[in-house]
Amino acid sequence: MNDPRSPAQDPDSGSGLADWTAGAADWIARADRIAAISRPATEILLARLDPQPGQRILDVASGAGDPAFSIAERVGSAGSVLATDGVAEMVTALEGRARERGLTNVQAQVVSAESLAFTPGRFDGASCRFGAMFFDDAARTFGAMATAVRSGGRLAALVWSCDDRNPYFTVVTAALDAVGADPVEVARTVFELDDPEEVLAACRGGGWVDARVEAVGFPWRLPDTRPETLIDTQSELSRKLRKRMEGLSADQIERARGIVAERVGQLEAAIQDGDDLIMPAECLALSGRAP
Ligand SMILES: C[S@@+](CC[C@H](N)C(=O)[O-])C[C@H]1O[C@@H](n2cnc3c(N)ncnc32)[C@H](O)[C@@H]1O
Repeated sequence: MNDPRSPAQDPDSGSGLADWTAGAADWIARADRIAAISRPATEILLARLDPQPGQRILDVASGAGDPAFSIAERVGSAGSVLATDGVAEMVTALEGRARERGLTNVQAQVVSAESLAFTPGRFDGASCRFGAMFFDDAARTFGAMATAVRSGGRLAALVWSCDDRNPYFTVVTAALDAVGADPVEVARTVFELDDPEEVLAACRGGGWVDARVEAVGFPWRLPDTRPETLIDTQSELSRKLRKRMEGLSADQIERARGIVAERVGQLEAAIQDGDDLIMPAECLALSGRAP
């Protein structure tokens, strides 16, 4: 398949891919921090994919390379990972970061989830972490992934569970709402596939067999963060939140900071561990076998 390094999507076109095209530079600049924070999610994915030395793995919506790089380390020099993403800037960044790490077994390709089409059975397994929520038709993409994997090969995919299990995403947003920050429209949110039955149906609908979904909790460890600075940490990681905060007065931001601190203080599962704030998080982990 060609890799035309597709031109940037029109950010106003209303598709999930357009949102990601607009936010790519931001994500790439923070890729190392995001990889470190989401390490527990990488482990959840690796446990289900169980990549073996010598295997060829397809990773979809790979972003700037995490967790594709961890999979590449597991399959070793005799194996390979094809990392794909619909945003050309992500793929270019991923290639650069793979070179920096000396990962010669990672190839990358610009391809949207909507146009995935590989030679049937080309891969031994397929993965997708925190990507499927943004696809136009997750069942169709899971179907293309199932076709690309040899019979019996594994699928491991993670999506975010529901908002009340993931307060990291909601407390700051709710505080900004409370102080009157303007909303920022996005085509799709991280909670788009938070219904276990729905995501399982998409996986089965794509043809995966022995498919199962499990809600898995994990720690979301934010370095150098306290409840009263969570709003700063999160807005530093989120272009959308920075945009929302731009229009606020110093007083509104202070009030929002207080609301966040109070709410986090009420969360039993939020723990201050030295300089780090650990927030509870939960994903839906999908697994299956290619037919
Ligand atoms: C939350 S990031 C996840 C990146 C990486 N898998 C990770 O776990 O850190 C979502 C990724 O999905 C990609 N993406 C969103 N919609 C897509 C689509 N329709 N086709 C392909 N990639 C898409 C974005 O460009 C972005 O890199």
